[in-house]
Formats: sequence, C-alpha cells, structure tokens
Amino acid sequence: MSEPKSKNIHWHGANITQEERQEALDARGCVVWFTGLSGSGKSTISRRVEQLLLERGKFVYSLDGDNVRFGLNKDLGFSPEDRTENIRRIGEVAKLFADACCVTTTAFISPYRQDRDQVRAIMAEGSFIEVFVDTPLEVCEERDPKGLYKKARRGEIPEFTGISAPYEAPEAAELVLKTAGRSVDECALEVIEHLQQAGFITG
Ligand code: ADX
Repeated sequence: MSEPKSKNIHWHGANITQEERQEALDARGCVVWFTGLSGSGKSTISRRVEQLLLERGKFVYSLDGDNVRFGLNKDLGFSPEDRTENIRRIGEVAKLFADACCVTTTAFISPYRQDRDQVRAIMAEGSFIEVFVDTPLEVCEERDPKGLYKKARRGEIPEFTGISAPYEAPEAAELVLKTAGRSVDECALEVIEHLQQAGFITG
C-alpha cells in the first residue's frame, strides 16, 4: 500500500476497544462486497438486503455504484486507473462504516481482482465478505435495464465492462450468487443467512 502524502501525521486510537464498541451497540460491522457485471443484480440485491435487515432493526447501509459517482467520486471516470481509485476510496469508506459496527453493503462492478483484494487487505480478518453476483453477460445484456449494453454495442460507450473492458471474476468469493431464474428475495435471503452464520447478524 502506498504511503500518505502528508508528513508529521500521527494515528489516534479510539478511547474504547472495538469489542467494547460492539458490545455497547450490540452490533458487529462488516463489508458485504457485491461484484459483478452491470445489470447483474448487485444493486437490487444489495438494496433488498439493506431493506430486510432494516426491517429487523439492524444497523445496515448500502453504498451504491452510480450514486457514489454523483458525489464522493464525481471526479472519476471509467479508465482502469479511475476504476482502481473508485474502489480504493469506496473501500476506505466502507471500512469506516464497518468500524462503526454497520453491516455495509456495496454494489460496484469492481472489475479488477487486485482492487478487490486490496480492500480485503485493509479490513479486519473475516469482515470482508465478497459476493460474486454471477450473472452471465448474455443475461445482463438481455436485461439491459439502463440500455447501456445497446449503446456500448453501438460503440457509444467506450471501455464498457464486458464489452470493451475486462471483468475479472473472483476466484475465492465467500458467496457466489447465481441470479438467473431466481428471485431477488431468494438471493437476498441467501446473503442474510451467510451473515447469520458468520455471526454478523443475530436473532
Ligand atoms: S467500477 O468499474 O468502477 O466498479 P461502478 O460500479 O462504480 O464501476 O459504476 C458502474 C455503473 O456505471 C454501471 O452500472 C453503469 O450504470 C455505469 N457506467 C457508465 N459507463 C460505464 C462503463 N464504461 N463501464 C461500466 N459501467 C459504466
């Protein structure tokens, strides 16, 4: 990992331990990192997980690809360097949310394995849960909810993931969700079950 640009800065720890924070809030944070092609279902499943957990009174928040590009990452495009920086910043934000004991779901294509692994590396052991939304390109292209694949095929969107830019599928994701022919709820409940088994959700 690269060194900060600033000199003469010092790390300040909290007055309480992470265990004390978890106990006080009765919650454990983690990052549920959805990755997959555009139109694979990342945002839809991530939002549904958020909704279902909120209905159970859990501390959960969803960070979403397109939305983050309106604010925090409005200066970034879709070149390989910009995508790497996009994921790096989101990883840092997600880590803060998780430290605050929030179950944090993220929905970004995050096409490069190395970028995702870098986020995993900054997280506490076991608290990065990579979820590969494994929807074949043909299905994403058939769904084409935003009409972007059609545009990309016409050559109107350069560097479009799956068409003219790469997507590197995870090799060891904690969860692989096959969405084709399955409902959003089935997929969302599978994620929640995993979170329960891993001890991030109780009750
Ligand atoms: S990432 O590659 O850097 O992780 P991110 O998830 O933030 O991408 O944004 C992807 C979303 O941006 C897509 O769902 C789509 O709506 C939109 N988009 C616009 N241009 C592109 C492009 N060239 N490649 C992929 N997605 C694009």
